[in-house]
Amino acid sequence: MENQRLDRRTFLTYLGTGATALAAASTGLGVLTETANAQSNNLLGTKPRKHGYEFQPIKPSTKDDLVLPKGYKYDVVASYGDIINKKGDTFGFNNDFTLYFPIENSVNHGLLWVNHEYTNPLYVEGEKINGTYSAAQVEKLLYNQGGSIIEVVRDKRTRSWKMVKDSEQARRITGLTPFALTGPAKGSKAVNGASMAQGTFANCSGGRTLWSTVLSCEENYETTSADAKLDPTHYGWVIEVDPFNPDFQVRKHTALGRFNHENASMGISQDGRVVVYMGDDKKDACVYKFVSDGRFKESLGNKNSRLLEEGTLYAADLKNGKWLPLALEDVRKAARGKSELLEKFQTQGDVLTNCHEAAILLGATPTDRPEDVEISPLDQTIFIAHTNNDKHGNIHGHITRFFEKDNDHGATEFEFEIFAAGGRQSGFSAPDNLTFDSNANLWTVTDISSDKLNSAAWTSFKNNGMFMIPTVGRNQGVAFQFASAPVQAELTGPCFTPDERTLFLSVQHPGEETKDKLNPTSTWPQVRGGNMPRPSVVAITGFKF
Ligand code: FEO
Ligand code: CA
Ligand code: CA
Ligand code: CA
Repeated sequence: MENQRLDRRTFLTYLGTGATALAAASTGLGVLTETANAQSNNLLGTKPRKHGYEFQPIKPSTKDDLVLPKGYKYDVVASYGDIINKKGDTFGFNNDFTLYFPIENSVNHGLLWVNHEYTNPLYVEGEKINGTYSAAQVEKLLYNQGGSIIEVVRDKRTRSWKMVKDSEQARRITGLTPFALTGPAKGSKAVNGASMAQGTFANCSGGRTLWSTVLSCEENYETTSADAKLDPTHYGWVIEVDPFNPDFQVRKHTALGRFNHENASMGISQDGRVVVYMGDDKKDACVYKFVSDGRFKESLGNKNSRLLEEGTLYAADLKNGKWLPLALEDVRKAARGKSELLEKFQTQGDVLTNCHEAAILLGATPTDRPEDVEISPLDQTIFIAHTNNDKHGNIHGHITRFFEKDNDHGATEFEFEIFAAGGRQSGFSAPDNLTFDSNANLWTVTDISSDKLNSAAWTSFKNNGMFMIPTVGRNQGVAFQFASAPVQAELTGPCFTPDERTLFLSVQHPGEETKDKLNPTSTWPQVRGGNMPRPSVVAITGFKF
């Protein structure tokens, strides 16, 4: 069975025909045709919108390039340091989450939100002097994190994607941009009375709201806040930005809690409340969801943002299949007899600012680094990338799937399964960001850390990659490799255009282990002259269906 799975992953052409059928032609095993009826998996009875993709899965690679299946190509759209607008703002470092916003409904012209997660002192701010950064270095550190809004267009003649470098709409949101706080912790002693905060950084992944704004997640904020001498309670939140509207005050929603936020995936409950699923990327951390008090009203546009100010934040208890509300009274009850904890948790703002501690106190389940969380477009089940956790031997991670009671995102009970497990048998290790196509194929990128790649337990995977995993049909749970990253890079932030003919993808930290600029471990992508490995966003085209 394992060999059969491996053979299928390695040698067969994936020819999806809707989510319901798969025809596969082999390159060495004779011709196989499979038609798998997946309708039984389809809880909502929705029909797949179109045919699936066709590609010849690639083999793992150590090549210093973004390797794609035959017939696919990538255009480098934006790289670290590129000028993005008339004003001369520049593209930040270590691009991550991307989100495409069509301009006038175009699938060939839009704004692209891009997260910038962290910097590399070798290439950005320089080394500390006597253990501290100068003011100029702090400015570089903060400017090159946060997000970029860039304008992208597909050339009618060449069919290549490029950035509009003199865009009027492109702008930066950085570690220097003023933010408003919203929700219960705003102005509270938990955030030292603040109702405004300086900047955003450590922006890892994110999500799209139902009203077409960006949610971007502050993940490992601790180092930057310490280096820049900024109050750490002002970071570790989910921020909201309206890419088309500079007048929309950028904000941090404290009702969604403070932890090492990976991403935020929005759905809607059966009674119209907004639900946001979230991962906390730490070893032994919990899965969360926020459910708004109010209901979504499409006509209100970005005023629906208020829904993210009042609601209930839950943490998942996997053993009992319960979503536990992070309510002050419950936390204080659980803390009874522990004076230090009772001192810490005096207001709901305290609970939201110290979510992980509160969740564990209440009995939420510590899990293996929950990173991206995405909702299946087919049956509304929830997929969670549990990257890995070497503390108890989960070296390669797994993808968990939650089934909410009555298939309702507002439910307080759920069941779960392990949908796919990393390892030699599946061909992937350390699943991280996830995205779905409209045929309910789950696309995942992997994040084996740069110092582990191509060694020991990670040898067979070679460089990090991108995989397509059908969630229905006979190949449910089988990973087909679609891309291999340049040396020491991680692929992040996959985002399809609405017609699914283009996939935007971030190539983060190529050549991360470089110690000497004259001798970089990667020279990808060789743009703007020189050999510097530059984090870049690419547009992948060639999708056929
Ligand atoms: Fe920034 Fe959890 O990856
Ligand atoms: Ca990530
Ligand atoms: Ca990661
Ligand atoms: Ca990363």
